[in-house]
Amino acid sequence: MSKLFVANWKMHGHAGLAKKLLSVAASLDDIENVAVMVPYPYLYLAQQELANTAAIWGAQTLSMYSQGAFTGEVCAEMLSEFGCKMVLVGHSERRSGWGELDDLIANQALVASSNGIKPIICVGEDLACREKGVHFQYVKSQIETVSKFLIENKAKGEFVFAYEPIWAIGSGRAANADEVEKMHLFIRECLLQISIEFSSRCIIIYGGSVNKSNLESLLTKQDVGGVLVGGASLKVNEFIDMVNICKA
Ligand code: PGA
Repeated sequence: MSKLFVANWKMHGHAGLAKKLLSVAASLDDIENVAVMVPYPYLYLAQQELANTAAIWGAQTLSMYSQGAFTGEVCAEMLSEFGCKMVLVGHSERRSGWGELDDLIANQALVASSNGIKPIICVGEDLACREKGVHFQYVKSQIETVSKFLIENKAKGEFVFAYEPIWAIGSGRAANADEVEKMHLFIRECLLQISIEFSSRCIIIYGGSVNKSNLESLLTKQDVGGVLVGGASLKVNEFIDMVNICKA
């Protein structure tokens, strides 16, 4: 069964690179499992290049508000106008750099889902937390806050949880595949305890230094429904190889 491949471009590149990567994506076959999360100015390009394909495109964050006087913010309705079907929320770079907390992230996920955009809710511990051995409790609390809020607010649709240990992001040091499996099974258990019905609408993906060399071993693990890839997704050949591995 094919696995979800999500490319997170972060704030990299320029219009030329964006166009190149998008046209490469558009040229591949069977890409309904491929999603690219682009910087806002390139959403228009993504829509143009990918419109006649099965690929998904989306943004890297969104406002928790609808329309209004919120300078610098972009709302779900606007993303939806550009054909976005997914959006990242709670990426650790936003949590640490912009002070985003679980309550805000839960609201962002709700407003996205209410506008037909599937949120990819990022969770994961930092190194200090892992070294103290409290990473399971830490991730559990992130999952619970958001999930309970979504359930209380009768959020519709499907959700993606991305387990991204912060120490693995951009470090070249992906989490060991067995450790990833342990955490994914733990997250599934948390979701099942919260609600069996809600859990059935969630998939769990892994992110943090994924590349074409470690991808296959990660995907063979239980309840790894796909991957969220930063740096390696910006390299054209590596992108193609990884998309093909996820399809196999
Ligand atoms: P990385 O980033 O693949 O460059 O580690 C992943 C992410 O931050 O989503």
